[in-house]
Amino acid sequence: MQLGIDDLAFATADRYLDLADLAPVHGVEPAKYTVGLGQDRMSVAAPDEDVVTLAASAALPLVERMSEQDRASIRTVLLATESGIDQSKSAGVYVHRLLGLPAAARVVELKQACYAGTSALQMALALVARNPEQKVLVICSDVARYDVGSSGEPTQGCGAVAMLVTANPRLVAIEPVSGLHTTDIMDFWRPNYRTTAVVDGRLSLRAYTDSLSGAWADLQAQGGPAFADIDTFVYHQPFTKMAVKAHAHLTRLVGAPRDAEVMDAQIADSLRYNREIGNSYTASMYIGLVSLLDHATDDLAGSRIGFFSYGSGAVGEFFTGVVQPGYRDHLRTAAHRRLLDDRTRISHAEYSAIVAPVNPVDGGDHEVPASTRNPFRLAAITGHQRLYERSAAAATAVA
Ligand code: CAA
Repeated sequence: MQLGIDDLAFATADRYLDLADLAPVHGVEPAKYTVGLGQDRMSVAAPDEDVVTLAASAALPLVERMSEQDRASIRTVLLATESGIDQSKSAGVYVHRLLGLPAAARVVELKQACYAGTSALQMALALVARNPEQKVLVICSDVARYDVGSSGEPTQGCGAVAMLVTANPRLVAIEPVSGLHTTDIMDFWRPNYRTTAVVDGRLSLRAYTDSLSGAWADLQAQGGPAFADIDTFVYHQPFTKMAVKAHAHLTRLVGAPRDAEVMDAQIADSLRYNREIGNSYTASMYIGLVSLLDHATDDLAGSRIGFFSYGSGAVGEFFTGVVQPGYRDHLRTAAHRRLLDDRTRISHAEYSAIVAPVNPVDGGDHEVPASTRNPFRLAAITGHQRLYERSAAAATAVA
């Protein structure tokens, strides 16, 4: 029996900052971002958006496509995030309610920087292996925030991806062998009292590639596929150039021919969406997968994808999946393209006004003005509670 990803969709903010508008503020050429980092734009969360609203927006199309009976078979919701909104309550519980999922379900939030989505996927596969009648909804959702003016600022972004994990999946069957690597390192983290990450940029680049080396060595030790048996590669993408560097690193490590054209073809389609979205932490690698499936001109059915998931601090996992016959019939390519094309370009001044999250701490009543055109929004923070609702703008757009 095969286990894996049966359905897949992403969401991001309805507005973006073009990095050409950030470059002069930092006193650099736009090419530093577009060429050096491989990023053109970054999605900017509206004041009434957070990981809950993005997660619910990503999962909505999956739930809408399911029958009542299939919805009832979602008995687990796993939400991975490193920009969570509460120290106790899972963001997934809000999402479970917004999506109208059955009460007979377990819901939990997972954290290990950008890696946690992969942990959620592996746990989902184990649950489905135990009872193949059940489906697990895995959602990865993040808003990446660095200090304004820091070198991390151009690598911000936000997004969520939702995956339905089932037996006999229609998109990608995940293979059982994984390569794992954990090491205690302070390359990137976010203490409880901060809304932005603390990062040692140089160290983080090295930690990423060291983790890749370690996870790859373990994959081989565990009997995983050889490099030559993997057709395409999807890497965690804090910025897309990182995936290019990672692929060059792995190619060198295994001693494969360093043919630029071949190497580019092995990763290029997975980078397209993230170039426009920016870092979405836990969601980033899986948006890379959507990008690959949506953009590949060749039919990928039967081909093997290698995934490298990295979460600072640091955990890395290298695993593989096989694309299923007929997968193209289940993609949402046009909807994803529309999502990105319909975003509004905002000025640097508009970005500056909303880059910090709405975060009142006094326990008073704070309504949050309606702003996002996405399906769900944060309506108020009142008595320390976050109140979410279906967005009126989205309801009007659908009608
Ligand atoms: N034209 C073209 N390229 C240019 C250029 C120009 N005018 N000016 C500079 N560049 C190139 C540089 O040569 C460099 O490329 P190479 O690395 O290939 O040499 C690239 O642009 C970036 O320049 P710098 O190294 O000088 O950039 P920086 O020091 O200002 O910042 C960074 C880069 C450290 C990645 C910073 O953006 C950062 O801290 N980002 C956040 C941390 C991060 O994303 N780390 C990644 C690994 S950790 C992880 O993956 C987890 C996660 O999600 C955070």
